[in-house]
Amino acid sequence: MKKSSKDAIALLKADHRQVEKWFKEFDKARVASRKKKLATQICGALRVHTTIEEEIFYPAFLAATKDLDLHHEAEVEHDGAKKLIATIESSGPEDEYYGARVTVLSEMIKHHVKEEEQPGGMFAEARKSEMDLAELGAQLAARKAELEAESDDDDMSPPPGGRKERSHVGRLMKGTR
Ligand SMILES: [Fe+2]
Ligand SMILES: [Fe+2]
Repeated sequence: MKKSSKDAIALLKADHRQVEKWFKEFDKARVASRKKKLATQICGALRVHTTIEEEIFYPAFLAATKDLDLHHEAEVEHDGAKKLIATIESSGPEDEYYGARVTVLSEMIKHHVKEEEQPGGMFAEARKSEMDLAELGAQLAARKAELEAESDDDDMSPPPGGRKERSHVGRLMKGTR
């Protein structure tokens, strides 16, 4: 069994730190195969992370806080990041723009993570709310494990644009409350 003792915010913050570390390593990497490997890891981790936030954490946040602005802005930022992720996944270090795409993605994510973690941001609001962060942490960990197992199974990139619907369906079906 996966250890799932982290509360929702601790789990999501740990994901943020992991991806930041990989972005730094990408920045220092000089060999194309290493760059490709890191970018693939980053994109995969961000897909899982945005999916569990959209399916589980964001709906619970919206239900508890009714904060439409924070919620909608976060989702729009995810949409922007996912477009760039799809482009990175369908290209490689031989592409002249590859490094620039990963750098811009890291800047988008840095901005988004700040919005989630800063005082008055989503995580701070969630802490003040009635959300059951321990229970949500367990749900996030379980869904994360499931998605990671799926992406190990089929190591194929999903078609660009094919994800949004899926996560909406997942969201409707999960009915987190
Ligand atoms: Fe996040
Ligand atoms: Fe997010």
